[in-house]
Amino acid sequence: MFAADPARYFEKKVAPILARRCLSCHNNAMKDGGISFLDRDSVLKGGSHGPAIVPGKPELSYLLRAIRYKEDVKMPPGIPLPAKEVEALTEWIRRGAVWGKIGSQ
Ligand code: HEC
Repeated sequence: MFAADPARYFEKKVAPILARRCLSCHNNAMKDGGISFLDRDSVLKGGSHGPAIVPGKPELSYLLRAIRYKEDVKMPPGIPLPAKEVEALTEWIRRGAVWGKIGSQ
């Protein structure tokens, strides 16, 4: 049902995860690792590990390896995301990582 409206998929399924679990360290004031989830370009560009997200290509997206705890960078630090949230982020990237409203923006 979200196929026709990818921005809605972002707002309903993805933004709440990023806002709750990631935004406190990855925002425009505090760009940990060089990325802010309020700034899509910074996420595409990524930090020292290269692009955090490659739209349409989950296997090339460092962010997904980080949230699967497969890399030295493990996100979020301390407690891994529930599998359902990992799936939602993977699906979002597979569909092209379309952005929408997040946080107070
Ligand atoms: C408590 C603060 C904190 C939270 C919460 C957090 N991060 Fe991070 N993140 C960091 C720090 C610090 C780094 C840099 C780590 C390093 O380079 O060793 C980082 C690095 C990253 C990187 C790698 C960037 C690069 O190329 O080096 C990605 C991707 C990332 N975070 C994604 C996420 C995601 C997705 C979430 C939420 C699920 C999240 N982070 C939650 C602090 C946080």
